[in-house]
Amino acid sequence: MSLFGRIFLLNAAVLSAATALLVLGPVTVSTPALFTEVLILVAGLAVVLVANAALLRFGLAPLKRLTRAMTTIDLLRPGPRLAAEGHGEITELIRTFNTMLDRLEAERGFSAARALSVQEAERRRVAQELHDEVGQSLTAVLLGLKRVADDVPEQARAELSQVQETTRSTLDEIRRIARRLRPGVLEELGLISALKALAAEISEHADLTVRRKFDQDLPRLDDEVELVLYRVAQECLTNTVRHARAGNVDLVLRTTPEGVELRVHDDGRGLGDSVEGAGITGMRERALLIGARLTLRSAPGSGTEVRLLVPAAGQA
Ligand SMILES: Nc1ncnc2c1ncn2[C@@H]1O[C@H](COP(=O)(O)OP(=O)(O)OP(=O)(O)O)[C@@H](O)[C@H]1O
Ligand SMILES: [Mg+2]
Repeated sequence: MSLFGRIFLLNAAVLSAATALLVLGPVTVSTPALFTEVLILVAGLAVVLVANAALLRFGLAPLKRLTRAMTTIDLLRPGPRLAAEGHGEITELIRTFNTMLDRLEAERGFSAARALSVQEAERRRVAQELHDEVGQSLTAVLLGLKRVADDVPEQARAELSQVQETTRSTLDEIRRIARRLRPGVLEELGLISALKALAAEISEHADLTVRRKFDQDLPRLDDEVELVLYRVAQECLTNTVRHARAGNVDLVLRTTPEGVELRVHDDGRGLGDSVEGAGITGMRERALLIGARLTLRSAPGSGTEVRLLVPAAGQA
């Protein structure tokens, strides 16, 4: 029914009931009205108004649901759509809203996909340049230093070896940055090896024990899905190092009846009421990209747990 019809019918029902009461009831109104008569009329009016308000509230409930949905909608966390059964303006409005939501989610998905692929390409380029340009130059410097090391006077030798050491560790750092930017092992050796390397690197450079547990019988996954799993694990571990003040973190990749699940669970201080930043938003965007479900959970004393569930459809 149209909104007009609905409101009109509700009002008509209330007014008819009031009129019927007047006609059939024992009420009479003298002129001028007596005090008791005015009291009865005012009470009747109050009843009519209350009934009208209640019915209107009932009649406009779908609009209220729609308003609530509009204000709380989050494109990064797709939820169920509002039910739109029947005919009429409100149903049409809900249907249009649902269609608009579908379109917005799709567009958001496309632009996130584009942004992420540009970002990955840029990371690859920077990693390549770091490796090929800066890395090669530093290697050349190291070789040069080694060549002159034998010819320099005794007193300069210690200083030279210090310079060599610094150059070597800078080279290591650059290789590490390049590896982080472009997880080459992912392409060459696969997800498990890449995750092992990531865990080893984190354990080595932070005061954190990474407890790994990877299922052996994982199905073959799309390259895109593997990259998302890797980047989410990377962001979670980085967050654990940076924010959690944790001693241990579990890194689990397993097959469940619903699909492949990545779980990163630390024993740190939990999320508290911290606001989501670019890192978590990025994880949500990546999850949406492959149709996976991302959930973050944290309770005081039990650290933070991030789960990414890739439904079976994401498997190659
Ligand atoms: N494992 C964790 N333990 C405790 N707090 C966390 C953890 N992970 C995230 N947080 C909190 O959530 C916030 C948002 O994290 P998010 O990764 O989105 O942003 P960020 O790490 O601050 O910055 P970046 O954009 O570089 O990732 C953090 O600032 C931190 O307060
Ligand atoms: Mg972060």
